[in-house]
Amino acid sequence: MFFFEETKVSDRKTVFSGIQPTGDIHIGNYLGALRNWVKLQDGFDAIYCVVDLHAITVPYDPVALHRSRLDTAKLLLAVGVDPGRSLLYFQSQVPQHAELSWMLSTITSLGALNRMTQFKEKANKAGENLGLFSYPVLMAADILVHKAHAVPVGDDQTQHLELARDLAERFNSRFGDEFPVPEQITPDVGARIMSLKDPTSKMSKSDDDVNTRVLLLDEPDTIRRRFKGAVTDSETEIRYDPEKKPGVSNLLDILSLFTGRSVDALAQDNRSTQYGHFKATVAEAVVEGLSPIRTAFKALDDEEVSRIMVKGALDARMRAEGEMASVRKKLGFDARLGSEG
Ligand code: TYM
Repeated sequence: MFFFEETKVSDRKTVFSGIQPTGDIHIGNYLGALRNWVKLQDGFDAIYCVVDLHAITVPYDPVALHRSRLDTAKLLLAVGVDPGRSLLYFQSQVPQHAELSWMLSTITSLGALNRMTQFKEKANKAGENLGLFSYPVLMAADILVHKAHAVPVGDDQTQHLELARDLAERFNSRFGDEFPVPEQITPDVGARIMSLKDPTSKMSKSDDDVNTRVLLLDEPDTIRRRFKGAVTDSETEIRYDPEKKPGVSNLLDILSLFTGRSVDALAQDNRSTQYGHFKATVAEAVVEGLSPIRTAFKALDDEEVSRIMVKGALDARMRAEGEMASVRKKLGFDARLGSEG
């Protein structure tokens, strides 16, 4: 039975999210988004996508991209995305994303795109192009092409999500009800994991300094080194205060997420622990937490993963095609090739 048919008979809500296959996936991606992806598989129709069309909006090497999109897919499987329960695929293999993006671009104001802070940051760093400018429209199309109700992301995606909501409302009021207005799902702790070297800016895949982040596949000794070099402050007390003590607070967030204990309890227990010792404790919790992911990743076979992704793309096409028929009709086109209505 096709996934599309299964969703029709169930009343479950749909969640959608995506990740770019650029750079290596770090604990910020994991704690802010991917852990929620895995959890949400139980109560929702979950659809997850490696957004490789988004990845080509900055300068890149096609050979490296081909490898990193497969590695990203493997990592998603290794963290627990289960193709038996979720739809997982490469964005470039489902052309309805680009089709809907074009349609949505005709109801997007240039002002809204001009206000996007991520566009400005990336354009300053890598140079601008039309695809980078309209990146948030494609992101809205990703979500709306599946009529998703909710989107698990870290809080750096909030502005993009607002545009997706706005475009859903605008489309519905202009052409008639079509899209649910998607909700953002962001964790209370971990929505913004900070750089280990500059705890006032977020941990990022594209930071030139590798010491700022811990990757999901880093070796234990690398992880220990990264935390040893983490910037804290000139005091001696462990206390949760993201404003005044961003470095220590970031470490408390990370420890909390990897141990399942509350930030308050951890701050209390470690109040007078020396910073060096505290960093080592965080490092060990992360080493332990990431170990099953590394093991699972190593056990995955490239060809098997490619097959999973092809199956995902075929199911996603089928599903997206079902949704697009009614969108096309509302815009004045034929629902399908050869159909008149
Ligand atoms: P991307 O690939 O940059 O990041 C993937 C996910 O990781 C989250 N994230 C973080 N969370 C907490 N702390 C951090 N330091 C941190 N860094 C990244 C991101 O919020 C994201 O959830 N535009 C998206 C990809 C995308 C998408 C979509 C997402 C394309 N289409 C549709 C949702 C729905 C992006 O670049 O994520």
